[in-house]
Amino acid sequence: MDKFLIKGGTPLAGTIQVSGAKNSALPCMAAAILTEDEVILENIPQVRDIDTERKLLASMGADVELLDGSDHCTRIRCATLSDPVAKYEIVKTMRASSLVLGPLIARTGMARVAMPGGCAIGGRPIDLHIKGLEEMGATIVQEHGYLEARVDRLRGAHLVFDKITVTGTEDLLMAAVLADGETLMENCAREPEVTDLAALLTAMGARIEGAGTTTIRVKGVGRLHGARYRINPDRIEAGTFLIAGAITGGDLTVAGCNPAHLGALIGKLEEAGVRVDLIGPGALRVRPGGQLRGADISTEEYPGFPTDMQAQYMALATQAEGVSLVTENIFENRFMHVQELVRMGANIKVDGRTATVHGPTRLSAASVMCSDLRASASLVLAALVADGQSVLDRVYHMDRGYERIEEKLRGVGAQIERVSKLPAPEAQPAVAD
Ligand code: UD1
Repeated sequence: MDKFLIKGGTPLAGTIQVSGAKNSALPCMAAAILTEDEVILENIPQVRDIDTERKLLASMGADVELLDGSDHCTRIRCATLSDPVAKYEIVKTMRASSLVLGPLIARTGMARVAMPGGCAIGGRPIDLHIKGLEEMGATIVQEHGYLEARVDRLRGAHLVFDKITVTGTEDLLMAAVLADGETLMENCAREPEVTDLAALLTAMGARIEGAGTTTIRVKGVGRLHGARYRINPDRIEAGTFLIAGAITGGDLTVAGCNPAHLGALIGKLEEAGVRVDLIGPGALRVRPGGQLRGADISTEEYPGFPTDMQAQYMALATQAEGVSLVTENIFENRFMHVQELVRMGANIKVDGRTATVHGPTRLSAASVMCSDLRASASLVLAALVADGQSVLDRVYHMDRGYERIEEKLRGVGAQIERVSKLPAPEAQPAVAD
């Protein structure tokens, strides 16, 4: 099992490049199910969740090919879908697999998708996906851990989400584009990843209005055709790099990002005393603006502060003067990183949905355990500023969503190595000094 060895204390400097958004790529790949033509997606990040989705589509009979010898461009052709089943073995490793439910039933009239289980950060039900499809005429039964959905043809409906859900909005949007008649979706997620998906679907011939707002109107069409589409930059990876620059007191340019998607985070960084400048199209420069000071965050749906940046922000808060209150409103159990940060010397108390961080604290290197994707990112950030060499175990969580993170960080001066098996203490590789 791979581990990271990270020696803290080097301010990051230079330019770091952002990859394509994993959370856009996943629904966009699922959208290829909606047509028998070829869909070519550029700027697909090379991360484990994407490999999983490729396997999932291939297991259903899709042709999935990487172009130009690079994982960044993928061609998907779902000419026939011989086996419209999302098997448990695949779904259990990636909850976003439920994104194939809507497109499968819209295209083939049937779908068999394993129910995702719980996960480290909370229950993550998909009841709203199911409710919406039922309102569009599907019959769904749950048996042997699988959802079995059937319909002759989906029909347009008036769908009102009880709660804002990102993949739920995406799943039902993909169902609605091939439904008979008009679908009105209310209380939709406004995340940029929903807008990315809608742009691809529109390029495929779908008729969608209002993506990126709370109300989306879809006029169903008889068929969709192929398209070529470039995935937008990953705003969470970009945000993680901004914090990497800030926490190390470095001078870092985050290139190839979309600053318009980072408003809530940039606002908080500035409030915390970090200087963030737009220095060109898609390039943000982060550098110290004085002593870091505590600033409270409260996670919300987009355009609010993203839950996927909460753990990384908490690492930064440990270095800020005063108290920072970190409130998690989206998931019930998303403080798994707290105990590991405390083991590194952080002063954090959790009470219900709110963590109180007292800073600044000197962090000292430790052996810590990654528990989920973003928690891993927060531990990498803490280790970058900790005194000594930290060992991060279970970095496979990190590999789900960050492309070559250690190479990218090393390129801007971080002392980070991936090791497959930790050698005996006396023979431990020195992290480049
Ligand atoms: C997506 C992102 C994830 C991010 C999250 C919130 C992808 C692949 N993942 O996850 O990185 O952290 O949005 O921004 O895009 N809920 C229900 N019933 C449902 C669906 C959701 O109760 O049917 C609840 C969830 O338990 C959670 C909240 O709604 O409390 C938001 O979840 P949701 O937006 O669906 O998260 P995901 O789409 O799974």
